[in-house]
Amino acid sequence: MPKNNRPAVLRWFLRLVALGVVAALGVLGFVAWAWSTARVDTVGEMRFERPLAIPPLAESRIDDEGRRVFDLTAAEGTSELLPGEPTTTWGFNGDYLGPTLRAERGEQVVVNVRNELDETTSVHWHGMHLPAKADGGPHRPVEPGETWSPTWRIDQPAASLWYHPHPHGETEQHVYRGLAGMFILDDPDSEVADRLPHEYGVDDIPVIVQDKRFDGDGDLREGNPMFSSTGLLGEDLLVNGTYGPYLDVETERVRLRLLNASTARVYDFGFSDGRTFSLIGSDGGLLPRPVRTDHVRLSPAERAEIVVEMEPGGDVVLMSTPPDIGGDIFGRRFNGGADRFDVLELRAAERLRPSPPIPSRLAEAPDVGARPDAPTDRTFSLSGRSINGESMDMSRIDETVELGTTEVWEVENSHGTPHSFHIHDVQFDVLSVDGESPPPELSGWKDTIFLPPHATAKVAMRFTDYADPDTPYMYHCHLLKHEDQGMMGQFVVVEPGDEAGTPDHTDDGHDHDHDH
Ligand code: C2O
Ligand code: CU
Ligand code: CU
Repeated sequence: MPKNNRPAVLRWFLRLVALGVVAALGVLGFVAWAWSTARVDTVGEMRFERPLAIPPLAESRIDDEGRRVFDLTAAEGTSELLPGEPTTTWGFNGDYLGPTLRAERGEQVVVNVRNELDETTSVHWHGMHLPAKADGGPHRPVEPGETWSPTWRIDQPAASLWYHPHPHGETEQHVYRGLAGMFILDDPDSEVADRLPHEYGVDDIPVIVQDKRFDGDGDLREGNPMFSSTGLLGEDLLVNGTYGPYLDVETERVRLRLLNASTARVYDFGFSDGRTFSLIGSDGGLLPRPVRTDHVRLSPAERAEIVVEMEPGGDVVLMSTPPDIGGDIFGRRFNGGADRFDVLELRAAERLRPSPPIPSRLAEAPDVGARPDAPTDRTFSLSGRSINGESMDMSRIDETVELGTTEVWEVENSHGTPHSFHIHDVQFDVLSVDGESPPPELSGWKDTIFLPPHATAKVAMRFTDYADPDTPYMYHCHLLKHEDQGMMGQFVVVEPGDEAGTPDHTDDGHDHDHDH
C-alpha cells in the first residue's frame, strides 16, 4: 500500500502546483489588466465643442443693518453633463454647482442657506476667517427644509475661496454630486486689483475642475476604482460643470482662478504648447510677487490664480500632465499619478484688447512673526486614516488654542498614500517643506497643503479672533474619502487660560427656522 501511495501524493502535489501556477498567472494577468486600464489620458481626444459655463455672480442685497445678504438653496436637479445624457445632480440655486459669491473686505455678510434636498447637508466656507459658529462644519447640519443664516465680517485679503458641504461622513458624496461654488473676496484697499485682469467672466474666469465617472446611462458613479487609495478618480473632466469646454478670449491677458474641487484627484496644470504664465495667487490671496512658471500642481481644495498671455487668433489648451504625487510605482499609477487630461481650450480673438502688464509686487508677504526655525507647538502625523493615531470623534476636542497666539504646526505624512492637509478658520504661512524653505508657489497664504508620502511641512498661523470653547473648527485631509473615513480632528480657540468646553451641536444662536 505505501508503495501505491507515493504516486497519488505526487499527483496531488503536481495538481496543487499547477493550480498555484494558474492562480498566480490569473492574479498577474489581473494586475496587468488593472495596471494598463488605470491610466487615463484624454490629451488630443477632447473636441472642445461647448462654451465654458461661467457660474453667475450671486445676487445680494443690503439689509437694514447694512449687511450683505445672499441666498443659497441646495436642491436636486438634472444636468446634461455629458452631451445628450441627463444626469441627476445637486446644485445651489441651480442644477449643478452654485453661484459665485463675492464680497469686500470689511463687509458683514449673511448667507441664508436653505436645504431643499431630502437629506441633511451643511455648508462650509473654505478658507474663510470667521467665528466657529458660522464655519458650517459637521457640527452645523442643515436639515431638509431648514434655513441656516450664518453671519460674519469679511476680514482677510482678496482671495479665491470656495464653499461646499461638510456633513460628517458624507462630504465626498455631496461635493461629488455638485454642491460647491466659489467665494471671491475683494479688497478695496488693494493697489493692484485694477492692474490685474478683473472683469468677471470676461478676463477674470473661475475654473472649477472636477473629475467624474459616468455609468452607461449618464448617471454619476460613486465608489472607488480598484486599488486607488485616495478615493474616487474619474475619467471625464468638467470645468464649471462643462464637458469639453472652450473659452473665447478677447484680451491680451486672461486670469484663471483655478480651483481643484475634485474629491481625490491631483492635477498639474500647464499649457499644450509649454508656454509660461504668471502664478499670481494661491489659496489665501495674491502672492507677494508673481511667479513665472509653466506648471502648477493643485491637490483637492487648493486654488491658484494664474495670468496667461494670449496671441491674436491663437488657441492653446489648458492641460493637466501627470502630477508628482510621490509614493511607489503602484501608488502613483493607481492614484492618478500617470494621468493626463485636456482641460479647457482658450481661443483668442483676431484682435485682442490690451491688458496692463502684471505688477511686480502684488501683496504683503505672509508674516505671522514665526521664523523658519521656530520651535514646533503641535505635531500632526497622518497615517492610515487617522491623525496622531486618532479617528475623528465629534465629541472629542483634540487641540485647544489660545486666542492671540502664533502657533507652528508640523504636519507629517508618515504613510505611503498622498494626503492634503487643511485647517479651518486661518490662513497659514508655510515655513518649510521637508526642512527646506518652501518653493515660490507656497510663498503666499495657504489653507491647504499637499503632502506626498513621507513629506513634512511646517506651517505657522495666528489666532486673532473668535474664542468659543464649545464650537470646534476642523483640520483634516481634504481627500474627501479620507476625511469621511475619519481623517479629521477638532480644535477650539479659547480666551487665554480657558479650557475647551463640550462640543455643541446645531445650537448656534443665530436665526434659523424649521418650516417643514
Ligand atoms: Cu474644504 Cu473642512 O473643508
Ligand atoms: Cu475649510
Ligand atoms: Cu488623506
